[in-house]
Amino acid sequence: MKWAALVGGYGSNLEAMLEYGNPISLVISHKKDVRALDVAQSFGIASQTLLPKSFVSREAYDQALLNLLIDENIEAVALAGYLRWLDASTVAYYMGRALNLHPALLPAFPGLNAIEQAFDYGVFWTGVTVHFVDNGHDSGPVIAQVPVPRYREDTVEDLRLRIHYHEHRLYPRIVDAVDRGLVGLDGKQVIWKESKSWINGQY
Ligand code: GRF
Repeated sequence: MKWAALVGGYGSNLEAMLEYGNPISLVISHKKDVRALDVAQSFGIASQTLLPKSFVSREAYDQALLNLLIDENIEAVALAGYLRWLDASTVAYYMGRALNLHPALLPAFPGLNAIEQAFDYGVFWTGVTVHFVDNGHDSGPVIAQVPVPRYREDTVEDLRLRIHYHEHRLYPRIVDAVDRGLVGLDGKQVIWKESKSWINGQY
């Protein structure tokens, strides 16, 4: 399938996906001058920046995003640091083919700053979740989760590095699995056609 990555920040997961060989042909950022755009360029991948403030309304932005994806024949979408919710039309169009990566074990610690939220809460375990995008916020059907320990002596930066380590291993594998049709969505149910040990962190 032809994938787009939706980004807005550092782009370390984009880098991991491109290094892994995920077939990403378009990178869309909602922010300008972010490292993720440099990553796209260094891999020779086309990129577009869609700045929300350049549009008269949220609806106009959402329509432009969906039009761009359709015009570029994008068949699947991987969100990686894209800090906007997809609108209902885009969610419906890409149902079962839009993925999000979240740096916590959903449904715990949804939303922004999930690593800090978990750290401040004092959990012993947090992790990484990959899920299909639905109309809720960080609420779609879970495809895979990796538990990540938070050690007593950790700083929040230690925890962040450990979480990113697992994100970079898990996300490209899930993108690949969806791309190959090894995992799909039946209603709200995630169906794995082959058992994969790394869906819970055994890479
Ligand atoms: C990741 O931690 C991801 O879980 C969250 O945003 C972060 C993106 O990091 N959704 P990067 O831009 O891929 O480095």
